[in-house]
Amino acid sequence: MAELKKMVVTTTIFIVTVLIMPLNSATLHVPTCRSYCGNITVDYPFALQHGCGHPGFRDLLFCINDVLMFHISSGSYRVLDIDYAYRSLTLHDPHLSTCNSIVLGRRGNGFSVEPWRSPYISASPNNVFMLLGCSAVSPLFQLLFFQGFADRHLPCRNVSGMGCEEYYDCPAWDWIGRSKIGSKFGSGPPECCAVSFEAIKTINLTKLQCEGYSSAYTLAPLRVDGPHEWSYGIRVTYSVQGGDEFCRACEATGGTCGYSDVDDHKDDGVKQLCMCGGSNSTSNCESGGSPSSRGPWSALNILAGFMVCALAWMTSHKN
Ligand SMILES: *[C@@H]1O[C@H](CO)[C@@H](O)[C@H](O)[C@H]1NC(C)=O
Ligand SMILES: *[C@@H]1O[C@H](CO)[C@@H](O)[C@H](O)[C@H]1NC(C)=O
Ligand SMILES: *[C@@H]1O[C@H](CO)[C@@H](O)[C@H](O)[C@H]1NC(C)=O
Ligand SMILES: *[C@@H]1O[C@H](CO)[C@@H](O)[C@H](O)[C@H]1NC(C)=O
Repeated sequence: MAELKKMVVTTTIFIVTVLIMPLNSATLHVPTCRSYCGNITVDYPFALQHGCGHPGFRDLLFCINDVLMFHISSGSYRVLDIDYAYRSLTLHDPHLSTCNSIVLGRRGNGFSVEPWRSPYISASPNNVFMLLGCSAVSPLFQLLFFQGFADRHLPCRNVSGMGCEEYYDCPAWDWIGRSKIGSKFGSGPPECCAVSFEAIKTINLTKLQCEGYSSAYTLAPLRVDGPHEWSYGIRVTYSVQGGDEFCRACEATGGTCGYSDVDDHKDDGVKQLCMCGGSNSTSNCESGGSPSSRGPWSALNILAGFMVCALAWMTSHKN
């Protein structure tokens, strides 16, 4: 009976040693990449620190005086929200025309992403861009520009029920007058042309020779009633190329997701990394393949467990 009791105690010591010891050492030094900017949570695949997050989103977000900024080739935007469940962000450009004001003079950013980043970031298909006061010689109205598309009409169309016909009902147009923009072209181009990002791929006011732009989206599942109820801003969707299995496996083993250091803006050579306390792994914190890895079930810990166990067993037999 006493033998059995000793055996139970010894076995318990063994299990506790193997389980607790390595977990302690692993959780003590794991760096954290998750952070906040104002009241916005910045989490994978985004990050504010270099080396954290997914490499496709590096050098993208910056926190300046508690304001989260999003920086791409067309300019900087304020981030109003990051929706991790729907994989989207909402951006604000102060020179974006809304229902209450129209900004001309090509001051707006528009929206265009560096080619290397375009697989990761795009404007949402439900987002409408309304280009204002475009020149008659704008590439928008050149048939050749749209040669790849099925119809050879103007690319202007309603997107998710939002279009220029509705936008003209906004008070901003009372101030500016519809005739003020576009009228000099006579029967030329419309003063507003609504497009989807998909149709144009880059909203560059200089290249398209437009004076301004508006951008709107609606999150309501049903069509909302008129342009007063649209949300003005740029709705962006993001996607983690190759999936987020790498990061999920890393986090499941107590690691933090990041990437190896890079000094250029090319994708080659940038590797995802799992940061495991004092070491980095190219898979996860339990992998045996990498020499720098250390996991809760490493051979050394099991050996340590056995030794404690054997010691306890020998001690109990002496008595
Ligand atoms: C953050 O705070 C602003 C006001 O300070 C509020 O309008 C906004 O909804 C908040 N955003 C989140 C994600 O809580
Ligand atoms: C916009 O187009 C102009 C003229 O084609 C070009 O010089 C400029 O670099 C473009 N901007 C961006 C952000 O691509
Ligand atoms: C866009 O919607 C408005 C209102 O429903 C309609 O009058 C207009 O013809 C539509 N335009 C296009 C291009 O479908
Ligand atoms: C792990 O990688 C991160 C990001 O590149 C780096 O900052 C850190 O120094 C690396 N740690 C080790 C132990 O190599």
